[in-house]
Amino acid sequence: MINLNKIIKETEKAVLEAALFISQEAERFDRSKTETKGLHDLVSYVDRGSEEILVGKLGDIMPQAGFIAEEGTSSKNGGRYCWVIDPLDGTTNFVHGLHPYSISVALTEDGEPIAGVVHNVGGNETFTAIKGGGAWLNGNQIHVSGAGNLSDSLVATGFPYYDFNQLGKYMECLAHFCKTTHGIRRLGSAAIDLAYVACGRFEAFYEYGLKPWDIGAGILLVREAGGRVSDFSGVEENLSGKEIIAANNLVYPEFLKNVSKFMLG
Ligand code: IPD
Ligand code: CA
Ligand code: CA
Repeated sequence: MINLNKIIKETEKAVLEAALFISQEAERFDRSKTETKGLHDLVSYVDRGSEEILVGKLGDIMPQAGFIAEEGTSSKNGGRYCWVIDPLDGTTNFVHGLHPYSISVALTEDGEPIAGVVHNVGGNETFTAIKGGGAWLNGNQIHVSGAGNLSDSLVATGFPYYDFNQLGKYMECLAHFCKTTHGIRRLGSAAIDLAYVACGRFEAFYEYGLKPWDIGAGILLVREAGGRVSDFSGVEENLSGKEIIAANNLVYPEFLKNVSKFMLG
């Protein structure tokens, strides 16, 4: 039997250590050290260094767990348990000297997140969640917002930057939310977007073309804070990031209806 309370505390420590490394490097980062993994997909030694710290520490916490880590430091298959790691979420922001950027770590059991940490690097905020144990920000329990309508909602999203197949539909959907909500924000870190839905700063978030490491911890944060997460069809299990919507429980049905109308219609 694993002790999730102990695991989350140790995970948080590992994340803070990686965050310290990122913050130190941010002070002297030279943009010419950036490489490109794919179209508009940036990476540097900072992403890789953070991931090495995390893989080392998390491997000590739960030696039986495998890894899905963005930069490929380890692809160990652990069977039932797996660490899903984004060592620096918001690399484009980081490279341009802009906040926010974050670290996202989830522990999954049979593919579903059971513990998660999202840390806003340089922002002094750590979001944690344990399945069935609530969601927390710097040790205080958090809940999704109580807004009941999209017309009272602030909506977060990410703009497509490599998969433009759905760009037309996406822009129509965006235009609709521009007209019908308090506004749209594009922060540049999907993990932070989800954490902000969990603590009620945003009512809703949607994006396509994400990966499991962008959303693993954030999914659990939103659910444990009382919100809902699914793909554009409303399927809540086995989310890969290909499509994701998250919202507070009251706004979710209206939000899902709109996103699916534009994106799947
Ligand atoms: C990115 C961020 C961004 C989202 C991108 C992601 P990365 O992650 O989460 O908000 O719009 O789709 O790839 O590459 O900075 O880890
Ligand atoms: Ca990411
Ligand atoms: Ca990343």
